[in-house]
Amino acid sequence: MTQFFTEADSESAVNVRMAEGINPRLKEVMTSLVKHLHAFAKDIQLKQEEWDYAIDFLTRTGQICSKERQEFILLSDTLGFSMLVDAINNRRPAGATENTVFGPFHVDGAPEFPMGANITLDGKGESCLFEGRILDLQGNPIKGARLDVWSDNAEGYYDVQQPGVQPKWNNRGIFTTEADGKYSFIGIKPVSYPIPDDGPVGQMLAALGRHPYRPAHMHFLITAPGYQKLVTHTFDGDDFYITSDTVFGVKQTLVAPFEKVENGETLWRSHFDFVLTPVGDKQ
Ligand code: BEZ
Ligand code: FE
Repeated sequence: MTQFFTEADSESAVNVRMAEGINPRLKEVMTSLVKHLHAFAKDIQLKQEEWDYAIDFLTRTGQICSKERQEFILLSDTLGFSMLVDAINNRRPAGATENTVFGPFHVDGAPEFPMGANITLDGKGESCLFEGRILDLQGNPIKGARLDVWSDNAEGYYDVQQPGVQPKWNNRGIFTTEADGKYSFIGIKPVSYPIPDDGPVGQMLAALGRHPYRPAHMHFLITAPGYQKLVTHTFDGDDFYITSDTVFGVKQTLVAPFEKVENGETLWRSHFDFVLTPVGDKQ
């Protein structure tokens, strides 16, 4: 019998239209999406003008996107959705370093440096020695691990946000470990910064009474043959925003020490060991 649309049976009216023999994963995903979307509208008794506003919001979110700006990822980040998807896809054994959000400011092709090099090209900020080891779950050093690191500058901007103001590749570099698994480089003690908040996502945060700040962090993308890719940061635990990261990226295990050393060239030292998980080792 033909099933016409009714409020009570709205979900099944849509889901029964899916043909036999379609991609089974697509069927599972879309069935659940329709179920939760319809339940959401019923739960909050969605008003027409609210749905019109939502369509306009999503339209503006798409319109502000460009090669340099991805507002949908910011939306996902600020709703905690990026962190949820990351958590579902990166369950790791106890002792392994945890993932966190990748963010929009990584750039492929950063310069490769020998261990100990200084990656700060604008001469601004409080210099900080980052050092530690790349280890396996048994505590053995990993040779040939590649660390791709990046941070904001002392004013809270990544180089790609300020082309022509900051030198290209400012506070970015790639380092490869030797047999001792050790890494070290000099950057700056990072500072907290607002995510781009001059678009629809910034308006949403303001309407919700939320600030747009991320606590100070250093980004690490660490890869090694035979190990899962690690996308993570280390955080400054003393940062004002450490408990209210606007993208929910902070994990207790990623809070790193920042000690004042005032030792020659460097003012700070941050020691952190990263523990990689073998490929195929899922929890
Ligand atoms: C970042 O840490 O670079 C970042 C992460 C999510 C949204 C915006 C920036
Ligand atoms: Fe960042």
